[in-house]
Amino acid sequence: MICKNLAVQGDDLFFAGRKTKDLVKKYGSPLYVLDEERLRENMRLYARSMKQAFGKEAKPLYAGKANCITAIHRLAKEEKIGIDVVSSGEIATALKAGFPLKNAYFHSNNKTDEDIAFAMQHRIGYFVVDNAEEVEAIEKEAASLGIRQKILLRLTPGIDPHTYEAVSTGKVDSKFGSAIETGQAEEITRLALSKEHVELCGFHCHVGSQVFDSDIFVRAADSMLSFLAEMRQKTGFLAGELDLGGGYGVRYCESDPVIDIEKNILQVGEFVHEKCRELGIPVPAIRMEPGRSIVADAGLTLYTVGTVKRIRGYKNYVSVDGGMTDNPRYALYGSPYTVYIANKMQEETTMTADVVGRCCESGDIIQPGVAVPESVQRGDIVAVLTTGAYNYSMASNYNRVPRPAVVMLGKDEEKIVVRRETLEDLLRGDL
Ligand code: LLP
Repeated sequence: MICKNLAVQGDDLFFAGRKTKDLVKKYGSPLYVLDEERLRENMRLYARSMKQAFGKEAKPLYAGKANCITAIHRLAKEEKIGIDVVSSGEIATALKAGFPLKNAYFHSNNKTDEDIAFAMQHRIGYFVVDNAEEVEAIEKEAASLGIRQKILLRLTPGIDPHTYEAVSTGKVDSKFGSAIETGQAEEITRLALSKEHVELCGFHCHVGSQVFDSDIFVRAADSMLSFLAEMRQKTGFLAGELDLGGGYGVRYCESDPVIDIEKNILQVGEFVHEKCRELGIPVPAIRMEPGRSIVADAGLTLYTVGTVKRIRGYKNYVSVDGGMTDNPRYALYGSPYTVYIANKMQEETTMTADVVGRCCESGDIIQPGVAVPESVQRGDIVAVLTTGAYNYSMASNYNRVPRPAVVMLGKDEEKIVVRRETLEDLLRGDL
């Protein structure tokens, strides 16, 4: 089993100690389930490893874009880690969770004036500033509020993370950040330093997501620390924070590599200490922004099988009661997933089928070529593993399909943390 929180007993797949079939009986399907213990363990792993590797000032920021719901932000608050937010909506979610916004870092390559005002009114800790226009907009808003706003500058260090193009962000021609190579990173540093209501605290970079190159953070730190030292020499400004972004990959399938996050972070720590010694600068407070590797393996999606179609001599289809509306990742990225018929775990999987959704397009595929038991039929339960990240947060109402509920499974208790959408919810905005 690719995740520790999975088990098989008799015919059934268990997740976080619960029989998946019972969860569907109790809460309906499709259903997102989250394992609270796993979420906490993943948060703690980063917090502990980072402190050990970089010093006690270091901390992870949970990247809420991976799964932005109040229940997860509440855990982030309890575990005393920071968060990365990317919109007023994500800020509102953090506020509803009672998350202390001073520990929030506001990203986005295009924050609107309204976003900037909203974030500042709620005293967001940091803006991670993408470009020169944004420095000006923040200066203006901060001046009008009579405050000094902390910022980091997002830079592009010119690193190709060898992941899929849509999630690669650290290359010079990226839409994100200011490039070191073109001199724009230095320009924006000087601009930020010249502003009265802006407090430049450090720099940020993010090279990509679902990255398996184990030295990716070393390469990013190398480039960023050199820039830090160069800026100190040229401007006298010594950055106190360095944010290396998100990005350890997770295992969707047995064939995906295993990454030892703790070991990796410790290696980055050794490099950072060594490099800072070489450059003659103190080790800055390091931040990392894990999203996927905090929530992915803490999540599972359960569906009920509907139509099973066997096109003799061609192909088989197993249709489920959700689809690209709750998990668009195969349709978008061809992303692999491990899929089980969760109530027939002992049966031999002698048939191959595309597990597809209920939407009106052929691209509505959860996963092609899945090995399933010959007996698969209407009413069976399908479990798609590792769906905690970028599933609920990327869900849509295409075909006016309501979004599923999210249930959080605690050690002893469980509760619905996002209720299933109703038809009234779908029509709420229609005038
Ligand atoms: N920080 C920044 C600035 C980011 O842009 C991202 C992801 C993260 C942190 C978190 O990266 P993670 O630890 O989750 O890899 N929708 C795509 C993923 C897009 C990632 C965007 N940025 C997917 O479903 O694979």
